[in-house]
Formats: sequence, C-alpha cells, structure tokens
Amino acid sequence: MCPWFESRWYHNPKQADSGPLVAFWPLMNGQDVFPAHIHLDARFEALRLWLNENRPPSIVVITDRNTEKHCLPLLAPHLPPGTQFLALSSHGEAIKTLPFAHGIWDSLEGMGMDRHGLVIGLGGGTVTDLVAFTADTYMRGVHCWLIPTTVLGMVDASVGGKTGINLNHLKNRIGTFHTPDGISINPEFLSTLDDRERRNGWAEHFKHHLITSQAPLKMTGGLLEGTASGEEVMEALAYSIRSKWDVVTQDPTESTGWRKVLNFGHTGGHALEGWALEHGVDIKHGEAVAWGMRLALNISILHTECPGADESALAPLLEFFERSFPLPGAMPDTEELWARMQTDKKNLGGRLRFVLLDGVGHPKPDLEVSRELVDSALGRMTHP
Ligand SMILES: NC(=O)c1ccc[n+]([C@@H]2O[C@H](COP(=O)([O-])OP(=O)(O)OC[C@H]3O[C@@H](n4cnc5c(N)ncnc54)[C@H](O)[C@@H]3O)[C@@H](O)[C@H]2O)c1
Ligand SMILES: [Zn+2]
Repeated sequence: MCPWFESRWYHNPKQADSGPLVAFWPLMNGQDVFPAHIHLDARFEALRLWLNENRPPSIVVITDRNTEKHCLPLLAPHLPPGTQFLALSSHGEAIKTLPFAHGIWDSLEGMGMDRHGLVIGLGGGTVTDLVAFTADTYMRGVHCWLIPTTVLGMVDASVGGKTGINLNHLKNRIGTFHTPDGISINPEFLSTLDDRERRNGWAEHFKHHLITSQAPLKMTGGLLEGTASGEEVMEALAYSIRSKWDVVTQDPTESTGWRKVLNFGHTGGHALEGWALEHGVDIKHGEAVAWGMRLALNISILHTECPGADESALAPLLEFFERSFPLPGAMPDTEELWARMQTDKKNLGGRLRFVLLDGVGHPKPDLEVSRELVDSALGRMTHP
C-alpha cells in the first residue's frame, strides 16, 4: 500500500447514465467560445463521447480530500463501470510534490494502467497540475482529461498546457508542456467553494481581462460575492479561457516572449507570496496577484514607455482591487520586496523587468523598471 494515499480505490459501482452522447459546443456571437479540446460540459457529454470513441482499457480518477467529497459525487455516475478512483490524502500545494507524483505512478502501475489508459484529474489547480504531470510522464504519456473544480483551475491552471510539481520551495520547477485530451468545465462545482477561494480565482480572470481587452472591466463585484447569475459566471469563465488560450497559442512554449503577458501582476505578487509563506502570513495567490497588479498599474502610470496608462482612468480599477482583495495588516517593507523581486526576475544592471500596461488591453511584456520607480509606485499605494 502506498503511504501517500487513502486506501480507497475501488471500482465504480454505478452504470454510466445512458443519455445521448452529444458534444456541447457553446456559441457566442456565432463563434466557438472554447478551443476544441475545452468543453462546457455540465453533463459530461464531451467526456462520455471521448470515452465511447476511444474505449480506454483502464480509467483512473484522481481527487484530493476535498474534491473526493464535494465533486466526485457529481462526476461518478457519468463514468463507466470499472472506473477506478484514487483519493490523495492531502490537498493544496502539499500535493504538488515528488512523493505524491511517485505515489501516483506507483498506484497507476498497481491499478493496471497501460499506455492506452485514461487518467482524469478532478480538482483545483494543484490536482490538475500534478495529475497532468504524472499522466504525461507515466509510460511516456497516457491519456489525460482534466476537470477543474475551482475558479482558478477553470480560468487559468487547466488552460495552457503547463503541467508541474514543485521542487522543495521552488514552484513549478519540474514539469512539461502537454495539452490534455480534453478539459470539462462544469460551473456547478463552484457552488461548494468557500468565499475566499472563489474570490482568489477571479483575480486571475480580471488579469486576463486587463491584458487582452480594451473594454472597461465590470467592477460590480457579483463574481466576487458569489451573487452573479449563471450566465454572468459562464460569460466570465468563457472569456478568460478564450483569452488565455489566445495568448498561449501565440507562444505555446514560451519561446517568443509574448506568453509573459500572462505574468502581469506576478512580479510583485510572487514577491509578496514568497514573503508570506516564509513568515506564516496567510495570503492566497490571487490576493497576492491582485496586489501585484496594483503595483504594476502604479508603475505603468509612472513609466515613460506607458503613456497610455492614464492615472484618472485607472484610479477606479486600483480602488476596486484594493477593496476586493483585502490583505492582512503585516506587509513586507520596500527593501524586502525589492530583494525578492530581484530573485524572481532576471536582474539586468540593477533593474527589474515587469509586464506593464500601456492602458487597459495594451500589455507591454519585459519593460525595465528601476528601484526608484518601484519606490515611487509603492509610495502611491496605501496598503493593506
Ligand atoms: N499550469 C498552469 O498554467 C497554472 C496556472 C495558474 C495556477 N496554477 C497552479 O494552480 C494551483 C492553485 O490552484 P487552486 O487555487 O485551484 O488551488 P487548490 O487546487 O489547492 O484548490 C484550493 C482549495 O480548494 C479545494 N477545492 C477544490 N475544488 C473544490 C470545490 N469544488 N469545492 C470545495 N473545495 C474545493 C481544494 O481541495 C483546496 O483545498 C497552484 O499550484 C498554481 O501553481 C497552474
Ligand atoms: Zn497566477
């Protein structure tokens, strides 16, 4: 028995629901909303269609502790008899580690997975990153289907073909580029997310909006409060998925540099997150990125190469982020942030490189930013 898992893999007792196997292709303005392998899949028709066509000899569904409880009951009735289940004994960043990857490889071996089998990852970004990585490396790649269950997983982590685990404290140091056979998006999973997890994920959606659309961001807060209608949630998910995928397809393996625009808000965000982790301060990734976007917007306003970043036009946005993503009282000082940002990005003659906005919808990847500019931008921010 592998020590990293609950001893709960078992065969699916239920017969798959035998409803019509029709792939659901949502249309918006006459255009496919999603790229071909990503499906709005509220009844898992796309997954079932794929299963029918490909008939994998073995299917293993991998969950974490929470998604086994909250999400598996919705999915399990749609899977064929003989499906096996593996519940990770932990959740969150703790599972994106080599011991858990090793445990999964061991278990796939024990479960009789062969090269034509299918691994399904059901969970947030940590589960989909880990499962996609283990599936892509086991026997040099078995089939993989991802079912994200958090906002962050749906709008960001499952989209873009990056798999990975952490190496000690270094995030995503080990991984591959691999697009899964399919991704099922089912917004129903979001109903069991707690308030903070939901907000956290929408921060990345706002980021996608700011780097890809010149339309004003809807700052109603309905998405954050959980009061948005089903259509509004769907529209936001679809927009984020489409826009992230558009960026990714222009630079799938990070060779041209354009994919860096997805790092908007992340230079400051990662510095804050790293500090919080070391000091035991509770800050989530999306909250740190929202703060990082405020920093990047303030730098953009001051930067000579961003004349389109107009202070009065950006003021409501800055206020929205500050109000919507509150931070704890303790914050790192300027010196600490500067030092951490230096290690996060390549230091070029004492200057950092940032993704800035020359106005909403006009990202500029890789602009040099001096210490003086960072100090001035931090001076403009009242935080928390
Ligand atoms: N591969 C990529 O391109 C990419 C992009 C962005 C982020 N990521 C990764 O995504 C990870 C973060 O993802 P996350 O924010 O989804 O974190 P997560 O996977 O840790 O999920 C957050 C928490 O919610 C729980 N949970 C998940 N779904 C639930 C549901 N429906 N109901 C109740 N609880 C649920 C989880 O068990 C966990 O405790 C990070 O490791 C990050 O590096 C990857
Ligand atoms: Zn992020």
